[in-house]
Amino acid sequence: MNYISNSLVLVTGAMGFLGSHLCKRLSAMNCDVVGVDNLSFSKLSVDKHNNVMNKILFKELDITRADHVETLFRDHKFDIVFHLAAVANPRICKENFDLAFNVNVMGTKNILSNSKNCDKIVFISSAAVYGEPLTIPIAEDHPLNGTDPYAITKIIGEKLCLNFVKNYGYRVVIVRNFNTFGIGQSGDYIIPTLIRQALVHKVIEIWNSKPIRDMMYVDDTIDALLTITSTNNTDFDVYNIGSGRGIQIGKLADIIKQNIGNGINVIDLQKPVLGSPKLIADNTKLKSLGWKESVGFEEGIRRTIEWFRTLI
Ligand SMILES: NC(=O)c1ccc[n+]([C@@H]2O[C@H](COP(=O)([O-])OP(=O)(O)OC[C@H]3O[C@@H](n4cnc5c(N)ncnc54)[C@H](O)[C@@H]3O)[C@@H](O)[C@H]2O)c1
Repeated sequence: MNYISNSLVLVTGAMGFLGSHLCKRLSAMNCDVVGVDNLSFSKLSVDKHNNVMNKILFKELDITRADHVETLFRDHKFDIVFHLAAVANPRICKENFDLAFNVNVMGTKNILSNSKNCDKIVFISSAAVYGEPLTIPIAEDHPLNGTDPYAITKIIGEKLCLNFVKNYGYRVVIVRNFNTFGIGQSGDYIIPTLIRQALVHKVIEIWNSKPIRDMMYVDDTIDALLTITSTNNTDFDVYNIGSGRGIQIGKLADIIKQNIGNGINVIDLQKPVLGSPKLIADNTKLKSLGWKESVGFEEGIRRTIEWFRTLI
């Protein structure tokens, strides 16, 4: 991680789920971290906000404001940019495509336009760009067939990165994240939803037990992100971040049930499967850098449940 240590780093989306974990790790590596966020989707508690903000220079900033982004880059000569700010919830992207396009596409363009002098830009994309997989596990050379509004904005974001690499001499790494879960995640995502149901209502209702997803604990995702960033990448590099392991939703519900204790009822609603029946990352390229999961799935679930207990 020597490449990253002591750098001046920008993290966009710093108060989000992944951004807040990343900021903490970067500041522990003695980086000077500037974190920006407009707090529109940040779900961190005030304590957690302060916890992150105390370690970094936080600026409340909307990345869709080209003038504000320009001033940010004039004030700081960043070595590395981690661009995470996004409308990250596919449901919200569908309901409000104008917002998703503005943030995920125009906001990304604003960040890129100003990053010319940075050593490296890391763009956080999503496995959603692959769409319905033609092959499992899904490798980085799989076609970008995603068609939902969130996927479309991420595909355009990736193409914008390519534009700045090919035409303006930038160095960009794209990371396609599968499903990350853990402390600090909230909202509509499956693992927080099932844990909350189990803790509050003693019932876990799953839409359908059959789909298989690649789910990884947040510390392992951040490890992967830092490993990729500290590598001597090519000018335009692409990495999947995923465990390479598929977990069936029914099995996920059982693991949560076992961890929470007796008396939890799991109900499979057997509704039509939403999205692909099976999504698993081919993480061969990531592993070739020496990365491996250190917390792992079951321990990650245990830690996430413990954190939820403190909230409820
Ligand atoms: N969590 C996952 O499993 C996952 C999977 C694939 C990809 N990703 C990607 O990783 C990134 C981070 O995801 P997350 O789960 O932490 O989401 P998140 O919603 O918790 O974080 C996104 C942050 O961006 C901020 N933001 C939104 N619009 C902004 C704007 N106009 N200006 C400045 N900040 C703005 C939000 O306030 C929020 O704090 C996103 O780009 C997302 O698409 C996440």
